[in-house]
Amino acid sequence: MNEINKLDYYGRGITYIDGKITFVKNALPSEKVDIKITKSLKKYNEAEVTKYINISDKRIKPRCPYFNTCGGCNLEHLKYLDTVNFKENKIKELFCHNNIEYKSLEVIKNEKDFNYRNKISLKVINKEIGFYEEKSHKLIKINNCLLAKESINNTLDLLEKLNVINGSITVRSNYNDEILIIINTEDKITFNKDDFISIKLVGVVLNNKTIYGNNFFYERINGFLFKVSFNAFFQINNYITSKIFDIIKDNLDENTKVLDLYSGVGTLGLIASKKAKKVISIEKIKNAVLDNIFNIKLNKQNNIEVLCKDASKVINKINIDFDNIIIDPPRSGLFKSGLDIILNSNANKIIYISCNPDTLVRDLKILNSKYIINKLYILDMFSYSYHVECMTLLSLKTPEK
Ligand SMILES: C[S@@+](CC[C@H](N)C(=O)[O-])C[C@H]1O[C@@H](n2cnc3c(N)ncnc32)[C@H](O)[C@@H]1O
Repeated sequence: MNEINKLDYYGRGITYIDGKITFVKNALPSEKVDIKITKSLKKYNEAEVTKYINISDKRIKPRCPYFNTCGGCNLEHLKYLDTVNFKENKIKELFCHNNIEYKSLEVIKNEKDFNYRNKISLKVINKEIGFYEEKSHKLIKINNCLLAKESINNTLDLLEKLNVINGSITVRSNYNDEILIIINTEDKITFNKDDFISIKLVGVVLNNKTIYGNNFFYERINGFLFKVSFNAFFQINNYITSKIFDIIKDNLDENTKVLDLYSGVGTLGLIASKKAKKVISIEKIKNAVLDNIFNIKLNKQNNIEVLCKDASKVINKINIDFDNIIIDPPRSGLFKSGLDIILNSNANKIIYISCNPDTLVRDLKILNSKYIINKLYILDMFSYSYHVECMTLLSLKTPEK
């Protein structure tokens, strides 16, 4: 019998066998369990529970029938508030472990812990549509994902009518429950609009070509309207995105020059443009940049300049005299030369948004030499998965006299 001490970064229970750390799937702190080792490496074991001897009072019955096989939700066996506590503790530990101090912390919970995702990406293998099993290429056929918006789930049963045999299908849904279907396959598909009359289908894109309707839709958040192309990034949780917008709005200075680095379709730059004198946005995906240019006009702003460039190639070529800098990078975080340039910019404030706490902490360690972290936000963008969105508000340290 083994006792689980705590959860690891991914939500697995931790126990020790002969001193070796062992990660146990679907096991919670304080539980006593019998386990079976599923993988044994030099430094650690992975294991599964064979028998629960003592069950945590925090455990609940997962609502999703695919919980134990699909890698999407790692925390559905915990009560929602305990999943948020888990994320708060893991971020606090990560910051503490890296000696990164912050003055205050706020946790922002999800509005709806289920049915919040506005996008899911499915695999198709031999006509079966679903997700891969965790850490494998074995498909789990699904016709309902509890994390996805209802409008997406209402679309899932209709997808087999497309006759895709092998490939992938992404379904995106907006504030108005309109649906975009994006298919990648070498198969000859059949598309009949009448098969989809029960949903608000606005576009179907096959191998980057529009075969029905439009290759974009509009999102509406906090009174802003955004054109979003089928392949442009948009945050997957509209409620948490609206909170990010509020934080940006409340924390930027008036009448400033702002850099919006990794701008996507221009959401954060647009929020900034309401307060700023001038915004420069940098994004490398052409469709997102074209959406951004369209969105600037749509939202009647005229103080934003958009550069369609790889940030790492352009940042040393622009005048970096910004007062405020917004950084919202992909999971890989900021690149080293970008960090150096930003450090030397002497911007008063930096707002760093991140979906990868590891690269956030790596970059903050460098920024920390000149910036203090006034506030750390932990936002539950990805409820019931181990993923966390963080936001940090940094300000330039005043030189010591
Ligand atoms: C996390 S998203 C943020 C987008 C936007 N700020 C938002 O909130 O919707 C990161 C964005 O960076 C873009 N990107 C990734 N690598 C890049 C690079 N090297 N240079 C410029 N943009 C990049 C991606 O295309 C994506 O739009």
